[in-house]
Amino acid sequence: MSIFITGVAGFIGCRLARLFLERGDSVAGFDNFCRGSRHNMKGVLEHPNFSFSLIDLADLGAYRRALCELHGRDPVTEIWHLAANSDIPAGVTDPNVDFRDTFLTTFNSLLLMQELGIDTIAFASSSAIYGDFGDQSLTEDIGPLFPVSNYGAMKLASEASISAALESHLKRAYVFRFPNVVGVPATHGVIQDFMLKLKATPGNLDVLGDGTQQKSYLHADELIDAMLFIRTHAHEKMNYFNIGADDDGVTVKFIAQAVVDRVAPGATITFGHGNKGWVGDVPKFRYSIQKLANLGWRPRLGSAVTIRKAVDEIARQEYGQ
Ligand SMILES: NC(=O)c1ccc[n+]([C@@H]2O[C@H](COP(=O)([O-])OP(=O)(O)OC[C@H]3O[C@@H](n4cnc5c(N)ncnc54)[C@H](O)[C@@H]3O)[C@@H](O)[C@H]2O)c1
Repeated sequence: MSIFITGVAGFIGCRLARLFLERGDSVAGFDNFCRGSRHNMKGVLEHPNFSFSLIDLADLGAYRRALCELHGRDPVTEIWHLAANSDIPAGVTDPNVDFRDTFLTTFNSLLLMQELGIDTIAFASSSAIYGDFGDQSLTEDIGPLFPVSNYGAMKLASEASISAALESHLKRAYVFRFPNVVGVPATHGVIQDFMLKLKATPGNLDVLGDGTQQKSYLHADELIDAMLFIRTHAHEKMNYFNIGADDDGVTVKFIAQAVVDRVAPGATITFGHGNKGWVGDVPKFRYSIQKLANLGWRPRLGSAVTIRKAVDEIARQEYGQ
């Protein structure tokens, strides 16, 4: 297979590329390094079956030129679209960020797939499309959906565009609704944020919100395993799945303590007010992964073990120890 990955220099994209290469596929990827980096692609960039271009996917002209050139050389069989803005608060401050990096990158990808006759897309969606349902278990068919962040809105709009494209030119789509995913190389996320804060003000960790926000966390190894499982075993035209841990998650307080214990024992933790970390944050969600379990995949690790494992990995990344 000849796989094309957008956002290939990011946290999940570079890991996915590595796995496809190990499997014997040829892989090409684009990224504009707004968050990803060459460093993340160590071991991938040098691979003889990998090619990379530095492209802003929101720039349709540049994207078209590069993809046509690539497709002419080695016809792309499917697109794994992972490029997006991964900083939710940034999209609250300036909604243009999510319009460009989260929606327009999807829209342009679909446009070029139509032009070039590439008929299969795998898309990194998010639990953020659901909005705030409180304690209700989020099944894939719950609704109506009213996202509370611009990021969630642009992911939902992307899913809608994929659905429409299935009526015209796409043959098959895989929509993966990710939970919070952790591991290395970390490019963002609560664990890395806490470590960066502790580096700036050793001795105190200032937490946004009162620490009671509770979410489920999945390790990147398990996420990728689930994505590949779905790609192999789901055969509908539109294959959409929640991917997540099989529990109610852990609190921000738990994560703060795990980070302090690992990298700054004895540091004090100061909590803010209210149960939201920022505007657009969903303080609590319960993810149903029954549909994925029915297909035959279940996570091995719970959220607490996942967090401890990722804290250790990210500590090595940030502190070298
Ligand atoms: N990591 C998570 O917890 C999580 C949760 C839900 C959904 N997701 C989704 O999974 C995907 C991958 O997430 P990640 O954690 O690897 O994030 P990431 O930020 O590490 O990777 C995204 C990559 O996309 C690139 N990118 C962004 N805009 C671009 C543009 N206009 N042109 C070219 N490249 C561009 C960035 O430089 C980055 O390398 C994203 O779509 C994200 O929204 C991630």
